[in-house]
Amino acid sequence: MRFISRCVGLAAAAMLILAMSGPGVRADTNRATFPKDFDKYVLYATYDRGASKEEAFAKPETIALSKSGNPLPAGTQLVLGIWTDYKLTGYFVMEKGVGWGQDVDEKLRTGDWHFQQFDTEGQVNRTAIAERCQACHQSQESNDFMFTIDRMRAYLP
Ligand code: HEC
Repeated sequence: MRFISRCVGLAAAAMLILAMSGPGVRADTNRATFPKDFDKYVLYATYDRGASKEEAFAKPETIALSKSGNPLPAGTQLVLGIWTDYKLTGYFVMEKGVGWGQDVDEKLRTGDWHFQQFDTEGQVNRTAIAERCQACHQSQESNDFMFTIDRMRAYLP
């Protein structure tokens, strides 16, 4: 009997630890996906830093909508191509969905955007820490958490 209650105690402790690990637990509810129609995306901004480079892509509809000055709608996916040592090494994706902010700890919330890192084949790269993406993009709250909005609005096809 004493043994059983000890086991129950251990299980409860393990559950408490899981519950306390906070945002890490919520990583499973990261809904950002790599766009299936990436071939329709348009390169609207390049950030060339020599050996490293970043390329920002969005759908033509997204770019057109950005010019209204309103926040981009749910369903929007934004892609950033990451180049290191003159090679494409992967993609960063931001995706917005209705109510997705509820999946994210309030301290790290970036509106209804989720963040994910993908490899060059568009497969999820689990080494990415979405919390880090969000912590940095939070500084852009007044621009709907985007860094490239001015370039997107200025882009002419
Ligand atoms: C230290 C700050 C920082 C971190 C961390 C960061 N970003 Fe960004 N992100 C930027 C900046 C700055 C830009 C604008 C492009 C540039 O300057 O290279 C940007 C641009 C983007 C864009 C293009 C759309 C936009 O916001 O304007 C996407 C998509 C994006 N980041 C996704 C991610 C993802 C996913 C992660 C994590 C895997 C991440 N970012 C981590 C700073 C950051």
